[in-house]
Amino acid sequence: MKGVIFDLDGVIVDTAKFHFLAWKKLANDLGFDFTELQNEELKGVSRVRSLEKILKWGNTSLSEDEFKEKMAAKNDHYLSYITNLTSKDILPGVSRIIDFLTEQNIPISLGSASKNARPILKKTGLMDKFHAIVDGNDVSKAKPDPEVFIIAAEKIGVAKENCLVFEDSVAGVQAANIAGMTSIGIGEKDVLHEADHIFNSFEEIEIDFIKNLLTT
Ligand code: G6P
Ligand code: MG
Repeated sequence: MKGVIFDLDGVIVDTAKFHFLAWKKLANDLGFDFTELQNEELKGVSRVRSLEKILKWGNTSLSEDEFKEKMAAKNDHYLSYITNLTSKDILPGVSRIIDFLTEQNIPISLGSASKNARPILKKTGLMDKFHAIVDGNDVSKAKPDPEVFIIAAEKIGVAKENCLVFEDSVAGVQAANIAGMTSIGIGEKDVLHEADHIFNSFEEIEIDFIKNLLTT
């Protein structure tokens, strides 16, 4: 039996841009900036690990209390962007694929580093589509460690090598590859070249392509 694991931010919803804006403001408040290319390194990476990376880029260190404050401030700012999220914010082409998988009785799992995953799935009306949800509250190791996907596969009872993973981040593609799953990158070919298959968006994915992967 095959199963499908979806990342959330930048795959199902366009929230990756809000993480970027919130981290950028945090860096700017500390007196430095980082590029969109550097931001690719933050995608798929946990909140703590992201702040560690950003502080390194800015040659800045914080006390333990300041670190916690900055993490909370970033999350508050991020939450202000996603308050009004609805099903209209589901990225184009995603629902078509989820509906097809549901019709075919293929188990679907979420594999996200975000601690905000559940509220986002609720707001977009997708909660019931998932047979299992593994998010930032369930894992201790950040992508590219495969932990999140391994747990996601276990929860739907599908062997690792029979899982397809949709990912928009380099760290996530690497995590899927390390887990021995089939990685499908959603984004730019230059960035996600390690993925087994790459598409600019879900709109480019033909149902036959998915059918093929599910039957081979
Ligand atoms: C996802 C996003 C990252 C984000 C991480 C933690 O993997 O791609 O940009 O930092 O989740 O999200 P959270 O909502 O818990 O801060
Ligand atoms: Mg992502």
